[in-house]
Amino acid sequence: MNRPSTDEVRSLLKKDEFPRSASYDQDWMLDNQMGPNAVWLAEWLCEVLPLKPGMRVLDLGCGKAMTSIFLAREFGVRVWAADLWMSPDHNWQRVVASGMADLVCPLKAEAHALPLAQGFFDAAISVDAYQYFGTDALYLDYLSRFVRPGGLLGVVVPGLMQPIGSVVPPHLAQAQSNGKVFWDSDDRCFKTAEFWQDLWEGCPKVTRTAVERLPDGWRHWRDFERALEATGKSLFPSDAEALEEDHGRFIGLLRLTARRTEATGYNLYDPGLGALAGVDSPEPGTEPSP
Ligand SMILES: C[S@@+](CC[C@H](N)C(=O)[O-])C[C@H]1O[C@@H](n2cnc3c(N)ncnc32)[C@H](O)[C@@H]1O
Repeated sequence: MNRPSTDEVRSLLKKDEFPRSASYDQDWMLDNQMGPNAVWLAEWLCEVLPLKPGMRVLDLGCGKAMTSIFLAREFGVRVWAADLWMSPDHNWQRVVASGMADLVCPLKAEAHALPLAQGFFDAAISVDAYQYFGTDALYLDYLSRFVRPGGLLGVVVPGLMQPIGSVVPPHLAQAQSNGKVFWDSDDRCFKTAEFWQDLWEGCPKVTRTAVERLPDGWRHWRDFERALEATGKSLFPSDAEALEEDHGRFIGLLRLTARRTEATGYNLYDPGLGALAGVDSPEPGTEPSP
């Protein structure tokens, strides 16, 4: 494949669909990416999230904190930028460099053990990360406990535009001309809109669930992959060819939104839950002496 020129890269990244993102430095987005352009995806998510200045927002799986910086800069919200694999030290450097130090607090956190207070957040969002932990039927019950009643939940994930069945389609399972295979066994966490709708509707802690497909999501993803390839900034060999061939038949991007209800419940990931519920007690007569 011929490599696009610098002008072509600029035009690949110029998207009328994402006018706010257009004011962000293209190299910054390419250098800090960890998948499909998270800034575009955050902008799409925020189209339906009524964020107001001063709100407290959890950005779960924030990666290199681009989405946290975007939320703070665009909406004046206060963001807790939580991530497992990325260092909060490096995220803090990016936050400071972006001028958002007063609004973004980076922290290292695992999605099932969040060191945060119940009901603290006005909103919890996650971009291109929720698929790694959110497919568990009970995970939304856990995450939503940190959001106040009436607060917002919003997620964007790569997903399936139709069920993939037991055999992965050849254009996703076979090597592209660069040798990279699109479909990895980890991509089992890519789910359909119907899967997410059922999962979220089943959770009593949220209401008003909506799941939507990003129109031409595959095209935006492909263009970003092409721009990465052209600039030599890819972390992994490009998936542009597979996305092009797929043309959105199977692979795309999904937006999940809901509102927090008043419902409460146990934290099933709390290692002290047995004792808390009074079902974990010593055998009579074996209590250690004080
Ligand atoms: C593909 S990266 C995307 C990062 C960022 N949201 C973006 O779009 O650039 C997925 C992120 O999910 C985070 N992640 C995966 N599993 C996690 C978990 N169990 N708890 C917290 N974060 C997790 C990783 O640390 C990683 O940064």
